[in-house]
Amino acid sequence: MCGIVGYVGGSRSIEVLMEGLQRLEYRGYDSAGLAVQPGEGRLEVLRRVGPLRELERAVAERNGGFGEVLAGIGHTRWATHGRPSEENAHPHVGGDGRVAVVHNGIVENHAELRKGLERRGVGFRSETDTEVIAHLLAERLEGGASLAEAFGEVMEMLEGAFAVAAISADEPGTVVAGRRQSPLVVGLGEGENFLASGVPALLGFTHRFVLVENDEMAVVTRSSVELRRFGGEPVEREPFEVDWDPEAVELGGFPDYMSKEIHEQPQAIRATLDGRLGEDGMVDLSEVGIDLSGVERVVVVACGTAYHAGLLGKYFIERYARVPVEVAVASEYRYSDPVGDPGTLVVAISQSGETTDTLAAVDAAKGCGARVLAITNTRGSLITREADGVLLTRTGPEICVAATKTFVAQVVALDLLAMELGRSRETLAEERLRELVGELRLAPERVQEAIESVSGRLDEASALFEEARCSLFLGRGVAYPVALEGALKLKEISYLPAEGYPAGEMKHGPIALIDERCPVVALFGSGIHREKTLSNVQETVARGARVVAVAFPDDEEASGVASVVLPVPRVPETIVPLVLTVPLQMLAHEVATDRGLDVDKPRNLAKSVTVE
Ligand code: AGP
Repeated sequence: MCGIVGYVGGSRSIEVLMEGLQRLEYRGYDSAGLAVQPGEGRLEVLRRVGPLRELERAVAERNGGFGEVLAGIGHTRWATHGRPSEENAHPHVGGDGRVAVVHNGIVENHAELRKGLERRGVGFRSETDTEVIAHLLAERLEGGASLAEAFGEVMEMLEGAFAVAAISADEPGTVVAGRRQSPLVVGLGEGENFLASGVPALLGFTHRFVLVENDEMAVVTRSSVELRRFGGEPVEREPFEVDWDPEAVELGGFPDYMSKEIHEQPQAIRATLDGRLGEDGMVDLSEVGIDLSGVERVVVVACGTAYHAGLLGKYFIERYARVPVEVAVASEYRYSDPVGDPGTLVVAISQSGETTDTLAAVDAAKGCGARVLAITNTRGSLITREADGVLLTRTGPEICVAATKTFVAQVVALDLLAMELGRSRETLAEERLRELVGELRLAPERVQEAIESVSGRLDEASALFEEARCSLFLGRGVAYPVALEGALKLKEISYLPAEGYPAGEMKHGPIALIDERCPVVALFGSGIHREKTLSNVQETVARGARVVAVAFPDDEEASGVASVVLPVPRVPETIVPLVLTVPLQMLAHEVATDRGLDVDKPRNLAKSVTVE
């Protein structure tokens, strides 16, 4: 939550800062701001409430433009302390505006630090926790410290999770930045250098990066990047190259990132399978580096969409590997005094690799002796550094706040893990494994077919939601976690109350919600689950429900109970969750756009939840 960016270089400062912020806007869009050094001895700050376009307008309207600025920092905010307002927008300044600060995270001891500053006569302009950093820096700069010295000292005083960047009017051409828990990377250029909360922000400008680790800071000028601990000890670290295509973060003709990312799902699955399915029909997960044969129990920890992927993982792991699997919401697991030992494999799933609760759950898992496997989409993210092994989903950057392509890639990664566990524990016969691998190879094509076959029916399905006051998503077996995910997609981007339920639970309460203004989205897979879902859905129809059925095209009984059918190709069970998911993502998109909403940036949310 919140994105920070920094730049030291030549004439393209404003371009870099604004483009960086645009690519970080998914991390928060309550307000945005810049602080720049337009010349020696001066700082200028510009802040606006609302999405980045408000700041863009202010930059464009600024009398005379900025010209060449020596250095700058920028921020896009997801409010934690203090409502979204111009006073609470970053950057915050101290020392009569001679030092400016941007911050992602929470300073947990800000109240105590603020009291101390107020006792020393400092006046505060905002309700934020961040402003203390600006004043603490100003005090030290006034006392004669350099920006880097002052910064290291102040960072050591802070408690909590944070990534901070600062500039001073008195040290032109220098940006300092440091972090604890919250992410920060330095981008390397020629005659210019960059920093940001995430690699995607800078892909249009550089592909070479250096990580800043916990309790470290970077002193960045146009010709040098110096890493050191907060205490001052120098740090040496090799840069790394990122091969993501900058076009991956462009819209490429799609109206929004959500549509683009939905359509990228076949490729996301292909890339996640690439190199992990051998010619011999076996799965190869040797990259994980964890001996899976000794696993006696699996615990999946994750939040939101990743948690729903975990529920599907349980289904496949128990089926193929015959080990018990628990799936826990990370924010609950972290405080649950968990039980574990080296026979426990904790699978932590996080697209971003930086979700605070999931990282804390990883810590808790390690604390009780379990081994941790991270499934993430973000190479080099915090979770990859904490886990014992890593399995990357390879979808490329996901910009839309609502997760789509990363969900299907997580399900595929869990499928691979389940098969590999089954093989190493000898619970899955080679022949059956080859069959399953063959089925998984079909997934990209079948998901493509699902996208195509649903496209023409969305108008009609969305019409059922026009007057809706709530909605229910029903499924059984593998379709149940998909129902949860479908309901989450709808509620987060259309703001319409939506609940996912196991269809068999309807008579235990939720059926009371049913009337013609509570549409039902029913997921029909195959086998016993399909049959049972059918009877449960018939019961809702008898009570006035209008049904959107996601079903195989030849499923006449499902079509018979539905007002609208979203047809998906008939596929083997391994890939049923993937093809059932696509129509729900597309339906949520349609309902939200019909309501005139911004699907990429739903209200109150941010892509990475880096605070508790
Ligand atoms: C889903 O659309 C949301 N973006 C959200 O539930 C998300 O899946 C959750 O916050 C977990 O994020 P992570 O995968 O980056 O840890």
